[in-house]
Amino acid sequence: MGTPAFNLHAFRAAQRAAPLSDFARELFAGLSLGSRSISPKFFYDVAGSALFDRICELPEYYPTRTEVRILTECADEIAAQIGPNAEIVEFGAGSLTKVRLLLDALEAPKRYVPIDISGEHLEAAAARLRADYPHVIVQPVVADYTMPLVLPSRDKGAGQRVGFFPGSTLGNFSPDEALAFLQLAHRLLRGGGLLLGVDLVKDPALLHAAYNDAQGVTAAFNLNLLRRANAELDTDFDLGGFTHAAFYNSPMRRIEMHLVSRRAQTVTLDGQRFAFEEGETIHTENSHKFTVEGLRTLAVKAGFRPAAVWTDPDHLFSVHWLQAA
Ligand code: TRP
Repeated sequence: MGTPAFNLHAFRAAQRAAPLSDFARELFAGLSLGSRSISPKFFYDVAGSALFDRICELPEYYPTRTEVRILTECADEIAAQIGPNAEIVEFGAGSLTKVRLLLDALEAPKRYVPIDISGEHLEAAAARLRADYPHVIVQPVVADYTMPLVLPSRDKGAGQRVGFFPGSTLGNFSPDEALAFLQLAHRLLRGGGLLLGVDLVKDPALLHAAYNDAQGVTAAFNLNLLRRANAELDTDFDLGGFTHAAFYNSPMRRIEMHLVSRRAQTVTLDGQRFAFEEGETIHTENSHKFTVEGLRTLAVKAGFRPAAVWTDPDHLFSVHWLQAA
């Protein structure tokens, strides 16, 4: 293929020349690989977060609706596991909508700590939540939760510290990253537990539809990454020159999302030209699907004790209560 070899010299020189943003550094490194990729965490600028909120409402995108249904219908059982005065720590909090279902169901929740890398989005959402839950202490933390982080110290008299990780975001990690995340969460949550929502293996046709919606919102979300790069990093991606592709990789049990170059073209980033052949892709995301047993086995490896699990009648999605003794 016409992919240039990774140019270590240019990469190091670029790193020295200016303090490149994480986005610039990771995009540069990702475009320099033989098989190109970029971390999905860069999807979520303001426009990307808004598009993501629209994905969650799409008729084809069953995960959000199904998880909300499970959290609503099983709220009393979930609340019984968690107990009173809990501290909820949410990893990657977005618009802070799902946690409302939990806060509504719990007995006297004490504190809520949403962690997100997008500071503006987080503060605005936290302010709205404070207004609606005046008795809950809302303490947002702006951080990348895949890195070790320090949480505000626990209140005396607080109940369990409970992690909340909905939306099958765990599936967007590689299997190694997922294990590392669970190990990190286990350390933070010792004495409490993790409430974890993950999507389940199912008919590939349903999965395919969920990531290839008729209105093209998922395509716009994927392509927004290139628009963001052009706006923030001064790249010159031709937005019409790439298309969205999402398909189920069944041996790997994952949906893969790619941006496919429609023709031979070059893109410039920080003075370096990257050549694309027609059909060459940038791999932008994986969404791994789980079995209930597979997830519980993974949780045990990370040190958790899997306790309750709740699913919908069609077994599309699952919510797990994992104790961190
Ligand atoms: N984690 C969810 C999933 O993998 C939501 C999500 C993340 C998503 N990125 C996405 C959904 C991109 C559609 C497209 O399904």
